[in-house]
Amino acid sequence: MIPLALSRLQQFNLGPKRYDDLRESRMPTILDGAAIAAAIKLEVAEEVKALAAQGVRPGLAAVLVGNLAASEIYVRSKVQSCADLGIYSDLITPPADVTTEDMLDLVSALNSRDDIDGILIQLPLPAHVDTKALLDAVSPAKDVDGFHPVNAGRLQAGRPALAPCTPAGIIEILKRSGIAIAGQHAVVVGRSDIVGKPAAMLLLHQNATVTICHSKTRDLPAITRQADILVAAIGRAGFITPEMVQPGATIIDVGINRITDRAEFDRFFAGDAKREATFLKRGSTLVGDVHPKAFEMAGAYTPVPGGVGPLTIAMLMANTVRAARMRRGL
Ligand code: GUN
Repeated sequence: MIPLALSRLQQFNLGPKRYDDLRESRMPTILDGAAIAAAIKLEVAEEVKALAAQGVRPGLAAVLVGNLAASEIYVRSKVQSCADLGIYSDLITPPADVTTEDMLDLVSALNSRDDIDGILIQLPLPAHVDTKALLDAVSPAKDVDGFHPVNAGRLQAGRPALAPCTPAGIIEILKRSGIAIAGQHAVVVGRSDIVGKPAAMLLLHQNATVTICHSKTRDLPAITRQADILVAAIGRAGFITPEMVQPGATIIDVGINRITDRAEFDRFFAGDAKREATFLKRGSTLVGDVHPKAFEMAGAYTPVPGGVGPLTIAMLMANTVRAARMRRGL
């Protein structure tokens, strides 16, 4: 590999020994989430065909409240994926001032509809809507996001459950890339109900030794440096820096942070001409929870974009088909 300029490493307080480690290492493998997601979608499309032969068409209700630009993009690509795979979808778009009561009525109606196997309520919801009450109202059998406490409990207890899509996607990336999980030390940075906690549980079920870290963890770098598999899901741009990474580790970057500020762009991507061209053209670029320089320490890593993101939608499709099967006892 081309050695990093020493000055860049000194910037991150890497000692001489770690510089030598790095020099001797090879270029990291980029884990192509888009390709893995495409393979999973092909498999799901086959399952949809097999179900069609039995007269079953899986259906997803996608609920998009208000007009948050990012949520609109995500939900439209979820609906498009349904169309691509032969899954029925119903896009429901309540206004931003919808009440919790109206949303509860909507969820209740969707729970009763026989053509709907999965209910997706895109988050975040407006602050005045009681998100927990809504997520609790979704029938656990149709909870394709895996956010209902019943599914969280089943997952924790090692029973069959609809698992949250992003954590399930992380496991698929590792398995399909031939990265060993059993016996490895997996360090999850972030303890959200949506990503951190379920990711830790799924890694544990795959026989990893799991440590969950968070914003209050003392001497975080000392722990992340022990990680064979480092999952960054803390929601802070470029939070994981090179000195926090064991050379050769696998890094899974769950973060998606939009950068619009030039100084911030330079902090992450100075010298990256391709990124700069995109940034100047669009006025923004995406960075994960891992500093780009930290990836250079890795044995393998998921890029942003194109890493974990595409798996979230692929696993939503897989969960919808699974829910359709389970609801019919197939
Ligand atoms: N907002 C960001 N990620 C997700 C997700 O996976 N599911 C839902 N419902 N909302 C989200």
